[in-house]
Amino acid sequence: MEMSRRASGMQASPIRRLVPYANEARKAGKKVYPLNIGQPDIKTPKGFFEAIRNVDLEVLAYADSAGDPKLIEAIQDYYKTYDMDFATDEIIITNGGSEALLFSIIALCDPGDNIIVAEPFYTNYNGFSAAVNVEVKGITTKAENGFHLPAKEEIEKVIDDKTRAFILNNPGNPTGVVYTPEEVQMIVDIAKEKDLFIVADEVYREFVYDDSEYKSFGNYPDAADRVVIVDSVSKRYSACGARIGSLACKNKDFMASIMKLCQGRLCVPTMEMIGATELYRTPTSYFKEVNDEYRKRRDTVYNALKKMDGVVCEEPKGAFYVAVKFPVDDAEKFIIWMLTEFDYNGETVMMAPLEGFYATEGLGKDEARIAYILEVPELEKAMKVLEEGLKAYPGRK
Ligand SMILES: Cc1ncc(COP(=O)(O)O)c(C=O)c1O
Repeated sequence: MEMSRRASGMQASPIRRLVPYANEARKAGKKVYPLNIGQPDIKTPKGFFEAIRNVDLEVLAYADSAGDPKLIEAIQDYYKTYDMDFATDEIIITNGGSEALLFSIIALCDPGDNIIVAEPFYTNYNGFSAAVNVEVKGITTKAENGFHLPAKEEIEKVIDDKTRAFILNNPGNPTGVVYTPEEVQMIVDIAKEKDLFIVADEVYREFVYDDSEYKSFGNYPDAADRVVIVDSVSKRYSACGARIGSLACKNKDFMASIMKLCQGRLCVPTMEMIGATELYRTPTSYFKEVNDEYRKRRDTVYNALKKMDGVVCEEPKGAFYVAVKFPVDDAEKFIIWMLTEFDYNGETVMMAPLEGFYATEGLGKDEARIAYILEVPELEKAMKVLEEGLKAYPGRK
């Protein structure tokens, strides 16, 4: 039987698609450095596990569709530390940030509508949109200027009468960009002028380096009725497997639509919400330690890349990714070759090809994303393997 054109037309995730090659390489005895996926190795704060261990329930019941009120309260307190004030009914807990994004797109767009993203963008925006017949339109940003946004006129050119929202990720995956307060203000201005929503994917809010100034889209009271803040414990507390995310918005119609979708999927797992409540109570000193660690990792990877012949990248200022242009014919071919044909002392590296992170056809063919989610000594070895692989690759330009 045929599958729907919608499902058949969806791209497989470029982050996960090449995993079978890595599995084969491992089976063949190679060590593979997994730099393809944003799966941090930092320890999840112990409070998460302790809270779950201490649960004394006789029935594991459905939770409220909006989420556990204690978790919502903990998130309200967390937002206050960023000068954001959300009422209890302005926050909904979701199955990861992923569900918050999908539900936002469904609530805001009809089939045939479009959303504006800054490309390269978090590739699953593509999948979520394609699944509900929504088009993703890209504002192209470039490594050469650190993936910052183009001028207002350039952005306005991409908007048409089917545009419903921006989805912007700040700090950015895969680019590591941190938008300046001026850029954030510019998007707010355009959204107001063109009557658009801003879905602000801020799951990497704490991962900002070198004193770069960070401004949340949640800090603009004059746009509060058109801003949706998407969050998650996955990266913030190194708890990807908890599948706990949230969205926060002051627009009552939007929240009412989201609530209908949430009621349909009943609720988010009860135990993980109990653990996540403790996560949001983690002292802020945790972020400082984690941030210092990622900055060291960023330095290790960036400094190594800068020394590699023909490699182009800018120093990322946030999140834990770097988008890299390689001197190769095709980045995906190069990554597959690294996994299937190459090893350096029995080791190789896996990355994510960047083409699927663009909406504009033809862009990103020679680019890949590296996630610096391993400890510094491992990253040093991985960078050496990559350097040797680049020298040996037959499709080198
Ligand atoms: C920018 C961005 N948004 C959302 C997500 C989804 O996160 P979650 O694990 O909360 O579904 C990710 C995960 O990699 C991400 O990088």
